[in-house]
Amino acid sequence: MKYIKSVHKHGSEIFLLELKDEKSLKINSIVKTSTSQNGINSIISECKGIDWYNNQSKNKIVYNLENKTSSYHRLKMEINSTFFNIDFNKGYHKIKKYLDLTINHYIQIWCEYRGHQYAPFHGDLSLVGNVMFDNKDEVLFVDWEQFDTSMKMPTGLDVTMTLLENICYETIRFKKIKMDVLKHFVNSLQVLNEAKLLSPLLINNPAKNTLDFIKSNTDIWKGQHFKLPVLKLSKNIIEEIDNAMYKMIG
Ligand SMILES: Nc1ncnc2c1ncn2[C@@H]1O[C@H](COP(=O)(O)OP(=O)(O)O)[C@@H](O)[C@H]1O
Ligand SMILES: [Mg+2]
Repeated sequence: MKYIKSVHKHGSEIFLLELKDEKSLKINSIVKTSTSQNGINSIISECKGIDWYNNQSKNKIVYNLENKTSSYHRLKMEINSTFFNIDFNKGYHKIKKYLDLTINHYIQIWCEYRGHQYAPFHGDLSLVGNVMFDNKDEVLFVDWEQFDTSMKMPTGLDVTMTLLENICYETIRFKKIKMDVLKHFVNSLQVLNEAKLLSPLLINNPAKNTLDFIKSNTDIWKGQHFKLPVLKLSKNIIEEIDNAMYKMIG
């Protein structure tokens, strides 16, 4: 037996319902529904993204598009119960391990796109909610609402955004970027580059180019791009990150 635990409307015009097991009170599935065109498009993108991901990932996301009419879509997804979201009130040095796991998982999942300038795009690989971990250090990417294969997004952009998002939180905490954080950013891009999963479009000025790609492809976020934390990085910080990249790897 299941019941609806909560209902909330979310900026992307989707209702999210959590279904709990009546006895254990554990969430065992989530349901996304929408009646608007934007929301329905997000649900369709999510199904395509999950199909694409399940083809590569050892841990699959099980879903069922239960109701699909021109004015109403209902998508039910089973919870992968061993996975959790990390606690975000930790400094960068505690988050580092999870960023490294995220990059490794990206390298595995996107392996067919080695050496490609462009690759399919998740659009919101944020450690706040959409990248999950388990006790065996396995990784699960969820929330494929922005999945896109048509917009020519540079290979590696997803994880470059993840890294920049965490630098953004650092600057909010400390008003500056510490040297070890900059080094970790540069090293991470080097790891991606060695795996042939960093587009040449992101090797020079990765921070500025990331922001430019987002700004010129805002359709991917269906009106929600303004919520992306990376867009809050100041011009000075962006220059600082890009200079560090230039100085450390030339
Ligand atoms: N397959 C899954 N396994 C475990 N937890 C999940 C799964 N899918 C989603 N979740 C949990 O539900 C939350 C909301 O799902 P998400 O798809 O990110 O919706 P939203 O679009 O509201 O961010 C996630 O942050 C995660 O904690
Ligand atoms: Mg999410």
